[in-house]
Amino acid sequence: MKTASSLALHGGAPAVTATLPVHHRWGAEELARLTAMVEQPSLFYWNGPQCNALRSEFQKTYPLKWTMPCSSGSAALHIAVAALQLPPGSEIITSPVTDMGSVIGILYQQLVPVFADIHPHTYNLDPEDVRRRITPKTKAIMVVHLAGNPSDMDALMAIAREHNLFVIEDCAQSWGACYRGKPVGLFGDLACYSFNEFKHVSCGDGGIVGTNDPRFGPTLTKWGDKHYDRVTGNRNPEALSPNYRMSEPQGAVAGAQLVKLPAIIARHVALGTRLLSHLRELAPPAVVFPAIDARDTHSFWFCLMRLELARVRCSRDEFVTALKAEGVQVQAGYIPKPVYRYPLFQNHNFFAGAWPLRESGRTTMDYRTVSCPVAEAMLADGFSLAINPAMTDEIITQTATALAKVARHFAG
Ligand SMILES: Cc1ncc(COP(=O)(O)O)c(C=O)c1O
Repeated sequence: MKTASSLALHGGAPAVTATLPVHHRWGAEELARLTAMVEQPSLFYWNGPQCNALRSEFQKTYPLKWTMPCSSGSAALHIAVAALQLPPGSEIITSPVTDMGSVIGILYQQLVPVFADIHPHTYNLDPEDVRRRITPKTKAIMVVHLAGNPSDMDALMAIAREHNLFVIEDCAQSWGACYRGKPVGLFGDLACYSFNEFKHVSCGDGGIVGTNDPRFGPTLTKWGDKHYDRVTGNRNPEALSPNYRMSEPQGAVAGAQLVKLPAIIARHVALGTRLLSHLRELAPPAVVFPAIDARDTHSFWFCLMRLELARVRCSRDEFVTALKAEGVQVQAGYIPKPVYRYPLFQNHNFFAGAWPLRESGRTTMDYRTVSCPVAEAMLADGFSLAINPAMTDEIITQTATALAKVARHFAG
C-alpha cells in the first residue's frame, strides 16, 4: 500500500512538486555593455573599456591593486603560480578535493602538487595535515575554498608565515564568501576566481587573478599575456608565458555580472541557510550537515553533506537515486575521487607519458602512494544539493522534506 511516506522510487508521490522557474542569468545589463562594446574600435583586452570596467567592479568587493582578467579560473591559477617564479621541483600543497584547474598550472610550471587531507565537515584543507606534508621543498599553499565555505585562514596563514610559504587562494567556487567578515581572496598573496558557466557569476568562460603584493603585481599581466609588456609596448619576453587574455565580449558580460554579484550572493546565502535550517528542524537520521563557522559567510555555490553509511540500509548512490526520484536536484559526491587518484596522476602521465621532474630526480613524488583518507571517505559518502538562485523558497522547503523522507526510509 502506498502511503505519504512511500518513496517516489517505489511509486509514492514525489516530495518536490514545485517547478523550477526559468532562470535568466544574463539580461539587460549584459546587453547594454555588449551594445556599447560593438561601437568600440577594438575588442582587445588591454585597456579595453569592458575589461577595465570589469576590473573596477571587481575591486569594489576585492580591493586588489593589480588584477588580470583572463580566459578561465584555471588560467588565473596558472598565472598566480607562474608569478611566484618557483624553481622546478618546488612543492605546492593543495586539496585533493578540487577541480583540475587548481593543479594544471602547478604541473605546467614544473612544480609538484602535494595533496593534504581535508577537514571531514568543512571539506577544506585540514591545517594540521598541511603542516604534516611540509618538506624543505614546500614553497606555497594553494587554498581551495570549496563549495562556498571559507577555509580556516587563520590557521593556514599562521602555517604559511611560520614556514615562509606563499599562499594562493582558489576562490573559483566561493564568490561572495567571507572569512570572519572579510571576503576570501584577501588573505593570501594572490587570489583567483572563475567566471565559468557554472559559477555564481559567469561570462561563459573567464577568470580573474589579483594581488596587492608589489612583488607580483607589476608583472601579473605578463604571466598571462605571452610575457609581453603592454605598459611599454615592449615585446621582448624574458620568460615563458601562455596567452590567457580575456577579450572584451567576456569582459562586458563578466563586468555586468559583477554589478549583480551582491544580489546573486544574497540569494545563494538565503537559499542555503533556509535549506540547512529546515533540515536542522527535520533532523534527517544519518545525514551530516556541513560545518560552517557562525562568524563566516558560506556563499553556497552548492551544499555538500554526508551520509553516515553505517546508519542506513542503502548505499550512497541508492540514497541519491531515491532523492532524484523525489525531484531533488542532487548529485553523488562532488568529484568521483580525490584528484591524485585520476589516471593522469596514478600514471604520472603529465607530458606524453613522462614526468621530467621525476625522471630527472627533482622529485620523488609517487602519486600511487598518496593517501588522504578523509577526502576518500567524504567523496564516497557525500552528496551535493544544488543551489540555484532561481529556486523558490517552496522548492527549498520541499527539498528538505524529501531528504528527511528518504533518510527516514533508509534509517537502519
Ligand atoms: C575550485 C576550482 N578551481 C578552479 C577551477 C577552474 O576554473 P575554470 O573552469 O574557469 O578554468 C574550478 C572550476 O570548476 C574550480 O571549481
